[in-house]
Amino acid sequence: MSKVHLLPEDVISKIAAGEVIERPASAVKELIENALDANTTSLKIHLKEAGKTLIHIKDTGSGIDKEDLENIFLRHATSKISSINDLDKIDSLGFRGEALYSIAAIADVTLKSKTPGQDSGWEIQMRSGKKISFKPAALPNGTELEIRELFFNTPARRKFLKSNTTELNQCLNVIIPYALFHYHCRFLVTHEGKTLLDLNPHATVTERMAAILNLNREDLIEKQYHAKESNIAIKAVLGNINIKRPQRDLQFIFINGRPVQNKGISFHLNQVYQLIFPKGHFPAFAVFIEMPPQDLDVNIHPTKREVKIKNEYQLTSILREMCEHALMTQGQAKQAISPQSSAISESVIQKAIKNDTEKTFETTPAPEFLEDTHAPASSEPYAYPHADAQAQIQEHLFSVEDQNLQSKLSRARFLGSFINKFLIFEFDKSLFVVDQHAAQERIAYEAFIRQMDKGKIEVQELLSPITLKLTPQEKVAFERSKDKLEELGLSSSFFDDETLAIHSYPILLKNPEPAMRHLLSGENISHCDHETIARRACRSSVMAGDFLNKEKAEYQRDQLIKCKDPFTCPHGRPTVIEMSEKFLDKQFLRT
Ligand SMILES: Nc1ncnc2c1ncn2[C@@H]1O[C@H](COP(=O)(O)OP(=O)(O)O)[C@@H](O)[C@H]1O
Ligand SMILES: [Mg+2]
Repeated sequence: MSKVHLLPEDVISKIAAGEVIERPASAVKELIENALDANTTSLKIHLKEAGKTLIHIKDTGSGIDKEDLENIFLRHATSKISSINDLDKIDSLGFRGEALYSIAAIADVTLKSKTPGQDSGWEIQMRSGKKISFKPAALPNGTELEIRELFFNTPARRKFLKSNTTELNQCLNVIIPYALFHYHCRFLVTHEGKTLLDLNPHATVTERMAAILNLNREDLIEKQYHAKESNIAIKAVLGNINIKRPQRDLQFIFINGRPVQNKGISFHLNQVYQLIFPKGHFPAFAVFIEMPPQDLDVNIHPTKREVKIKNEYQLTSILREMCEHALMTQGQAKQAISPQSSAISESVIQKAIKNDTEKTFETTPAPEFLEDTHAPASSEPYAYPHADAQAQIQEHLFSVEDQNLQSKLSRARFLGSFINKFLIFEFDKSLFVVDQHAAQERIAYEAFIRQMDKGKIEVQELLSPITLKLTPQEKVAFERSKDKLEELGLSSSFFDDETLAIHSYPILLKNPEPAMRHLLSGENISHCDHETIARRACRSSVMAGDFLNKEKAEYQRDQLIKCKDPFTCPHGRPTVIEMSEKFLDKQFLRT
């Protein structure tokens, strides 16, 4: 008996919808793209329960003809391309004709639209992909959609949605890049009666960037470049040295008007900033790349978020050079290393990109000492140590049992401090190098957990508050975690609409700004355990670079040894390395 059969249409539509619409933010993205493709000058978005129960979006674009209103909900119905040749020269954000079909399959949709050529508008209502009603409607030129009860008929998908805070931040993550790029367009975004974004048309993209992200306009550098031979035009808005973030949350890449993720471009731009930034700090930037559509493939995935670039290597070289120059001349760079692209092998870069993008915020960068001692000289600024070599060195350095290390370090003699970053001790036939910053993070992390467990956090009150401009996402996170932050000793209030004033902070944290930003990023801290909170709070919030004299160095060493897990920092980096005589002999080929 035959076992193969075609799936019924309603099952097909739900499967297809799952590919395009994963969460409210994906629906928001598709609807914004449709409005922008229709050349809207204003976008008003209202959400309820982070879009789970309502997404209401109004545009002033071209509208949809009455005759088309039913067809747009069919699969692959689009006005944007018509033949295979068009795929090579896509100039609209949408083209697959899947969004409205998918959304209508899994939600209640009411769409009203009026074109300038029609006397009145029309309204169509869809549910589970079926037409419920079709009638005249009064509205100005443009289109208005209400999406209710997303995923009502796909309960598994609905269950998979995260908390409203997380889903709302996902929506903002989608909206903000479009609001940035379309700086002429008015954007109003509200959630349950609260305004999240209220942007009037701006004259320049830089002004818009400053307005959305609450940055100082003076801290943004503009740079443009046109590579005629490859027909690539780039505009970059780069944050200067005053905008340092503990994460990469203010970074945007656009190619031909589409916000995209591209690991290579992101890696290279962050690398360029290492010329002026200490480790663990990330810049703000927005780069706008225009290139021939045939050198680009946006049709890799239904969400069109990732793109393939034909000549990515050439593009990143141009970008590096351009940004280095801008930072060197306007960004207060300490030193510039011009890229010698030909000297760097593609595979080394690929490996480094892989390393770089695999690091999540909670995990670890490569141990600094390895980069410092083994990275080639400045002619190859982005070459990382070869993975095999790294593994070999690691094996030598960490072959010592922890306990053994603990006992040796406790008896070791302090030799001195190196560049205010490392403390050097000796014992028996070994040298011990303590990473001051990593060690301090471990000590603060464990002490912070102890204080949280006891419910007694030692707090530093501030006479004049530290002020902090928040992004819209951080504002949302702050509202949800205010009480928890207060409990942690980070007492704060809004100074004005976007500025948070910190009035007190836990003494252990020396530097409250990165602590606050880390606590406001990612999962809502009210639901996190003490370890996670402490790890996030301590990240880059203990100062590095102080000179420690003998007493202070020994005190730090003693405190470190008392820790439960003394030899890694809370983010996984080593705090101490031991270099045995044997290891050093090997380095000098004295075997
Ligand atoms: N806000 C809007 N304004 C004008 N036309 C729209 C709007 N939203 C959708 N459309 C029309 O509906 C069609 C189908 O939309 P969609 O399913 O998102 O597919 P795509 O955007 O890939 O063409 C679009 O091609 C467009 O003609
Ligand atoms: Mg579309």
